[in-house]
Amino acid sequence: MARKCAIAKLALAVFGGLATTFQAQMPCFQLSGRPLPLATSKVPQPPGKRDLPLATRKVTLSGGTACFERPPAKLPARSLPGWLPWLARGHQHVSIWKKLWPFVVSVSGVVLSVEATLRGRRDAERAQQESQEGRTQAAADRMMVPFPPQTKKAEVVERDITKTIEERILGWHEHATIIAGRFGAGKSVAVEEALRDMQGVYVHQVRGNDWEEKLYKRLGLDGPDMLEEVHRRVGDKLKRPPILLLDIPRTTKQGMETISSFAKELSSDRKLAHVIVCASSAAMAISFDAGGSARQKDIWVGDLTEKEAKELLTLRGHQNDWKQFVDACGFNALDLVDACDISVEAKKAEMEQKARKEVLRFKDQCKIAGDTGKEILNKLLENRQAGEGAEELCTDASPKDVAMWIREKGYHAVIWHTVKREYQFASELHANAAIEILKSTSQSTP
Ligand SMILES: Nc1ncnc2c1ncn2[C@@H]1O[C@H](COP(=O)(O)OP(=O)(O)OP(=O)(O)O)[C@@H](O)[C@H]1O
Ligand SMILES: [Mg+2]
Repeated sequence: MARKCAIAKLALAVFGGLATTFQAQMPCFQLSGRPLPLATSKVPQPPGKRDLPLATRKVTLSGGTACFERPPAKLPARSLPGWLPWLARGHQHVSIWKKLWPFVVSVSGVVLSVEATLRGRRDAERAQQESQEGRTQAAADRMMVPFPPQTKKAEVVERDITKTIEERILGWHEHATIIAGRFGAGKSVAVEEALRDMQGVYVHQVRGNDWEEKLYKRLGLDGPDMLEEVHRRVGDKLKRPPILLLDIPRTTKQGMETISSFAKELSSDRKLAHVIVCASSAAMAISFDAGGSARQKDIWVGDLTEKEAKELLTLRGHQNDWKQFVDACGFNALDLVDACDISVEAKKAEMEQKARKEVLRFKDQCKIAGDTGKEILNKLLENRQAGEGAEELCTDASPKDVAMWIREKGYHAVIWHTVKREYQFASELHANAAIEILKSTSQSTP
């Protein structure tokens, strides 16, 4: 409504102004050459107009002209809109425009040519980025950014294993490094902590057989030749080869086979980059073979120490009841973190159930060369008193095949310790489950 009023007012201002301007030039009709006396008469009105005010129906006869006159006094007095006189001086504007036109033309020319130059530069930059050279440099630049671990510094418990990894990185001159350990032992946190703020680091998750293509794609590269050039550039800048961390999450089942040759080529043969493989379980680490143990460095990430576990639980608000957690759930970092999220009791029950299931299935189903699972479990129980694991030859199956079975089936009752080179129970709970299960089967067997 207010808007309509405003439009109406504007229209009134415009037309009212025009009427005021032209009020002296009333519409006249030539009747004859003789002046007519001024008269006021009723002009016949078309139906519907009869009730118009009298003043609007006056006719002035002057000479031969009959004029319909609108009395000026009755018109609303309106001032001229500001732009009307300006418009009236049109001829002046034309001459100003004539003078300004060459200037306007030349300014537009400059603007257009600047725009064209910028567009050309943008196109050239894009072409450079899309070119091999541009992409290689972009990947090298990306690797030069100081590495930011996923966990904040304040949330990380300092561990000796981190220092061991750090020493290996700083003193590296050849061969791949394999970091192995049980699920959730803290491998990824430890290695990332050792790499914190370091330049020349790239982390890639290995998920599936196409992990290598994905690595090139993520870096914007076409293949191994371009990656080699990236490593060379970063190496030249840092005066040491860059680090490529291949993290294998616990869910990964495929792709490990090709990691070995990839790592051997880069770290042993060409020494262009330090490949660190962070394998989520010993079952995966064992399937890694970068040319034999002499051509790879194995680092084992074990359970937390009591001091480390207390610190981790303190960071999560359990400084007073931390002992309760480790007594029930042990010293695996992830188990303790999970227990904080649910409850000690719930976590303990879940772990006991899982351990029992894994031992049972391993014993009954792992039959690679004879009764493989059962043989390994028996040997482990036999050596338990002495605090030892089970050596490779306690069964006819090779550790690699056992590892493969564990990985495929997902029953992690035992682990292969890559540094001690022996089978071990996956945890104390697995050992207790094995004692119970094997005792009951030996009792039930006649
Ligand atoms: N040093 C540490 N300080 C604080 N928290 C830790 C530390 N190490 C491990 N954790 C906790 O334990 C969890 C598991 O650790 P991490 O992911 O490093 O284990 P992992 O061995 O790599 O596991 P996976 O076998 O699944 O790869 C982390 O998410 C973190 O919450
Ligand atoms: Mg991990």
